[in-house]
Amino acid sequence: MHILTIVGARPQFIKASMLSKAINSQSKIKEIMVHTGQHYDDNMSTIFFDQLKLAKPDYYLGIGSGSHGEQTSKMLLELEKIMMSVKPDIVLVYGDTNSTLAGSIAAAKLHIPLAHVEAGLRSFNKKMPEEINRVITDHLSTLLFCPTQTAIDNLEHEGISRGVYLTGDIMYDSILYFKDHAIQQSTILEDLSLTNNNYYLATVHRAENTDQPEHLKQILTAFQQLDKTVVLPLHPRTKSKIKQYKLNELIDLPHIKTVEPLHYFDMLALTAQATAVLTDSGGLQKEAYMLQIPCITLRQETEWIETVQTGWNQLAGYNTKQIVNNVRNLKTPNHSPPRFGDGKAAYAIQHILMNDF
Ligand code: UD1
Repeated sequence: MHILTIVGARPQFIKASMLSKAINSQSKIKEIMVHTGQHYDDNMSTIFFDQLKLAKPDYYLGIGSGSHGEQTSKMLLELEKIMMSVKPDIVLVYGDTNSTLAGSIAAAKLHIPLAHVEAGLRSFNKKMPEEINRVITDHLSTLLFCPTQTAIDNLEHEGISRGVYLTGDIMYDSILYFKDHAIQQSTILEDLSLTNNNYYLATVHRAENTDQPEHLKQILTAFQQLDKTVVLPLHPRTKSKIKQYKLNELIDLPHIKTVEPLHYFDMLALTAQATAVLTDSGGLQKEAYMLQIPCITLRQETEWIETVQTGWNQLAGYNTKQIVNNVRNLKTPNHSPPRFGDGKAAYAIQHILMNDF
């Protein structure tokens, strides 16, 4: 059986590395990988392939950045050509990026069965480009691999129950696999003169925060008011927006350490040893939970509702006061119930692909 896997953005490289390992451990399935080039800077792409020992993609499309329509349509054109020549038995996509959407539409139009890893997530906010991508992908998919029971319930509400599997979250597999190694290997705490449990790790990259000057300003003002060092790895878009909106002086402070985008091991090491994480990333909210680190989410809603229900995550939005108050009243529950599976999602997915499909 031939699987055509499509990746394009940082979190997809991490997820694909776990499933590729599982697929490559047997001989019945051959995987062919396409990298759309949605993320293309070395520190957003190549370094992940090297570090995670992910084989070089069979196809690199080099699509790069652009408006949603431009980026998605360029990918669609190229992916259709590849699918027509490779004729895979199944196309596999991850998450909710524009690469996911393009792969899903290309496969569905060519009547190739589609498998979606991280199916069923919903923020119920159609202003998020990712929400549009995931709703369409789920409705086109033949196999839907859900990380949580909430995801299964969401699909059921939309009338999708065939081909739906609760596999657990593949990011949890990755954390269990890499955590100790990452903490051992990474020198990021020393490099930034940080001590364990004495800093906040912050990331901001969502369009709803970066593309509205007032939102970005309020978030950075909150960081300015925090009582510990804030480590802020800057996504290229956020960096350019800070410059464009002339907000540099808000982060040009001794207690704010801005750094270039970090590789996976440094991010894992930083997350695992932080006092708290402040983020608008979906992946980082989950990773904080899995590592038992409190999280403050810089959004009004989350797809990962389990992290809020269990008390580990507080939704603060972009409001300065709210963010600062939430940090002052940090909650650290006693334990984090296993809401994201048992760390064997990749093998569960591989087994379904081999036996049930
Ligand atoms: C994308 C996904 C988001 C995911 C995130 C993971 C969509 C709509 N969004 O967001 O779901 O959480 O990846 O990190 O697909 N840029 C560079 N170098 C790069 C990549 C991007 O400079 O290597 C800059 C460009 O200015 C680009 C901007 O960042 O326009 C945004 O990149 P894009 O891939 O469109 O979205 P992300 O915010 O990274």
